[in-house]
Amino acid sequence: MVITVEQAAYQSHWSRQDYTRELEQPNLAQNYLLTMNNKIIGVGGFWALADEAHITTVSINPTWQGQQLGDWLLFYLLSQARYSSLRLATLEIRASNHRAMRLYQKYQFNIVGERPKYYPDGEMALILTTPPINTPDYQTFMQNRGCIIKQQLAKKYSTGELYHEQPIF
Ligand SMILES: CC(C)(COP(=O)(O)OP(=O)(O)OC[C@H]1O[C@@H](n2cnc3c(N)ncnc32)[C@H](O)[C@@H]1OP(=O)(O)O)[C@@H](O)C(=O)NCCC(=O)NCCS
Repeated sequence: MVITVEQAAYQSHWSRQDYTRELEQPNLAQNYLLTMNNKIIGVGGFWALADEAHITTVSINPTWQGQQLGDWLLFYLLSQARYSSLRLATLEIRASNHRAMRLYQKYQFNIVGERPKYYPDGEMALILTTPPINTPDYQTFMQNRGCIIKQQLAKKYSTGELYHEQPIF
């Protein structure tokens, strides 16, 4: 089911073997499901590498896109990274993925580098990084974002419909 969401949302996606490898490394990988009424509608995760959260996946099933759920999922991942005492978050993104780029810019990600021909089809990746997420400034920013997004989601969904858990196969 997780792989189905990923296949629907992404041009490239992880295989079952990739997820199995992730789940065998619980100290390194943190993966979360976004569910609605017991259906998986999104997947997000990161690796804790040294003091960085390397975000590996943020994907929302296309049926559910454009409803602030990707925003909530990224907010949740960054909150978990902070909770794990990580200092910043980083990720690679397709240069053409303007939609995701706008989402990441909302969370203050900046372009810090490029990886030419990073994807199997030859497209370049941009490397994005947050400012330090353990500063009072970023924590204040996150508290404000959390309030805004919870209000937005509360208008659409009732409490209890939306929650996260670690994926288990
Ligand atoms: C990128 C993705 C996670 C965003 O999730 P989403 O639920 O569709 O997005 P949201 O409704 O939460 O919107 C959050 C922000 O994303 C940006 N965004 C969303 N849809 C957009 C669109 N059609 N055009 C431009 N920006 C858009 C906006 O900045 C938006 O914030 P705003 O509504 O305040 O303007 C989702 O589209 C997805 O799964 N895409 C395929 C997988 C992928 O590309 N993941 C990222 C890999 S690095």
